[in-house]
Amino acid sequence: MKPGRAVLAVCLLGLSGWAGAQAPVERGRLAYQSGAAACARCHGRHGEGRREGSVAAPALQRFAGQKAGLDELRLAVNDGLSAGRALHPLMPRYRFDAGALADLSAYLDVLGSEADADPGIGSDTLMIGARLDASVVPAVQACFAQINGAGGIYGRRLVLQLDPGAAVFAMLGWGRDVPPATPSIAPDAGTGAAAFGLLPGSAAQARFMLDQVLAAAPKGATLALSAAAGTEPDTVRALQARAVARGFTLVPLAAVHARGNGAVAVLSLGDGAHLAGVAHKVAAVPIYALAMQAGRTVFVLAPHAARRLRLVAPAALSYPGAARPVQERLALGAVAILVEALKRSGRRLDRETFVHAIEQMRGFDVDGLPAMRFGPNRHVGAAGMLMVRVDPERRSYLPYTDVSEENDH
Ligand code: HEC
Repeated sequence: MKPGRAVLAVCLLGLSGWAGAQAPVERGRLAYQSGAAACARCHGRHGEGRREGSVAAPALQRFAGQKAGLDELRLAVNDGLSAGRALHPLMPRYRFDAGALADLSAYLDVLGSEADADPGIGSDTLMIGARLDASVVPAVQACFAQINGAGGIYGRRLVLQLDPGAAVFAMLGWGRDVPPATPSIAPDAGTGAAAFGLLPGSAAQARFMLDQVLAAAPKGATLALSAAAGTEPDTVRALQARAVARGFTLVPLAAVHARGNGAVAVLSLGDGAHLAGVAHKVAAVPIYALAMQAGRTVFVLAPHAARRLRLVAPAALSYPGAARPVQERLALGAVAILVEALKRSGRRLDRETFVHAIEQMRGFDVDGLPAMRFGPNRHVGAAGMLMVRVDPERRSYLPYTDVSEENDH
């Protein structure tokens, strides 16, 4: 048997294998998108039309929302006629029976509408967006190539889509521009009902940091916050409200200096450069920051500043025996979760099924990280956090609290 015929046989098997249980519109979708007919190949994924060499396969969206006339459809599809005109031979002549035509018509009726499939799902490709550190993209690409080399997932190749405007089924990584409906799996959780993280997001880490400060500060004390320009305003507001609710005052660092009244601790939200600036300005009081944001800068601060640093660190990062760099472990962990959820979702993929599949993962093993535990109300796989100090001589962290999970939102 030639390879082409083997592939066709698989397509047809796939088609008949689950056509029976589906609603007409789903059977029609399948016939349109894949299987032996694969109208989408020429008329476009959402019936938007496409050029085939010098011939244009027209848009079929005029059939949507008006219950494609079965007769009109039968004439075009089986007889190659449209408005009495013979269609170009590039348009195949099919032999659809009345049932298959009704299914196709039911699907054409929703073509391109919201009832149509989720974005990024092709008959043989699956578009996955990326908001990942550039340094880890090659490792993710290599991983995709390996999966695709082994036949992809249910016959679909994973395509890493770096163009932020492209239609994608799901994201690796998260950014504020990611629409809430797009599922995302990120090193640290984003916000939104379909956002998952291996580690707590920066808002949750900041909350944990504040709680540590409040536990250590004398009642009613003033605390200072220095948030870098890119900080989510919601995060800052939430921290202020939380401090006030417990009887503390949280003011911007600049205000403390201007008014000259002392703060008992300073919270820094921002990257390493931001933290270095804060450390330069602030003398004598403890400085709190997020280890993941601050990065390696903490090891090159002046010793008197380094000694006053208290950092929030996700517990998963101190997982023993991890050989690869942290960012790479997290990115490949996100890929592993993505692939597992796709496998559990099956060929008939949609975002709802996919999100549900992640929420069912209770103790999923990821290379170089603790087992990931998700649930409907738990979108962070390894939620534990602890406080660490810096040992500038050894360039390492020293844990000084137990690991705890932040459950209070
Ligand atoms: C190999 C490419 C190809 C495939 C596959 C294909 N078509 Fe077409 N189709 C065309 C082309 C090209 C035309 C335009 C022919 C012309 O106008 O002369 C066309 C025309 C049509 C028309 C007429 C549209 C009009 O407005 O006149 C309909 C309806 C249609 N196709 C439906 C389908 C359906 C349904 C399927 C799948 C069951 C399908 N086609 C599969 C290439 C294709």
